[in-house]
Amino acid sequence: MDVLEAVAEKIKESRYLVAFTGAGISKESGIPTFRGKDGLWAKYDPEELASWRGFLKNPKLVWEWYTWRMDLIGKAKPNPAHLGLAKLEKVGILKAVITQNVDGLHRRAGNKKVLELHGNIWRVKCVSCDFKDKVKEPPKEVPPKCPKCGSLLRPDVVWFGEPLPRDVWTEAVMEAMKSDVLLVIGTSGLVAPASMVPTMAHQRGSSIVEINPEDTPISSMAEIKVRSPAGSFFKELIERLRI
Ligand code: APR
Ligand code: ZN
Repeated sequence: MDVLEAVAEKIKESRYLVAFTGAGISKESGIPTFRGKDGLWAKYDPEELASWRGFLKNPKLVWEWYTWRMDLIGKAKPNPAHLGLAKLEKVGILKAVITQNVDGLHRRAGNKKVLELHGNIWRVKCVSCDFKDKVKEPPKEVPPKCPKCGSLLRPDVVWFGEPLPRDVWTEAVMEAMKSDVLLVIGTSGLVAPASMVPTMAHQRGSSIVEINPEDTPISSMAEIKVRSPAGSFFKELIERLRI
């Protein structure tokens, strides 16, 4: 049985299918990943651009970087991998997407149950008061100021060293533990605590299907390893599943 057939069977037999995704699922939408040869962290210093300390030191620089990413993400479209997960949810097979991505492409593809562990680039929040807002485009002036108290606004994303949103994390752990099949798509599995999701699912007996052109620390837990780009694989998978 080829890997496509094996994954199709796994999905058809699943009782509680959950997906766990990383930056690799958005690569074929034109959004760079973080690690790997052409990844963002090869060009920029994550400490400087994706940390509270870096933001305090130079909020303008950090907002210029997020403005660049928002422009890029704003032009991006969901690719067949995002759309395939939306179809799987629509037909009642996929129960949840747990994502590390902040690009919002899973919701744009049509998924309803999306647990964003690292926040969302289209939300901003005040560094001082409880002001939060959804935005459709990058701020006109950088760094933007809070309309309520005048302090700085920041992207509502989780930076290195910051805690994940507690309610989202709790729900993600519950979903992973309930899964009998976990699709692990496009993640290097290097950033905790998010990277613990596949391990927790595996420990509860969930069967791991890894979709990633490269090996990762998750590969040793994977029952099926799909060594292809997610977009092109899902194109064939959805045809094979006839959904
Ligand atoms: N399809 C599937 N996987 C792919 C594709 C593709 N077309 N292209 C690349 N990949 C894989 C890479 O092999 C790599 O394993 O996607 C993975 C991307 O890994 P990272 O860039 O480390 O992204 P991610 O795992 O999501 O990073 C986790 O780190 O920087 C923080 O907060 C940031 O959420 C991010 C977290
Ligand atoms: Zn404020």
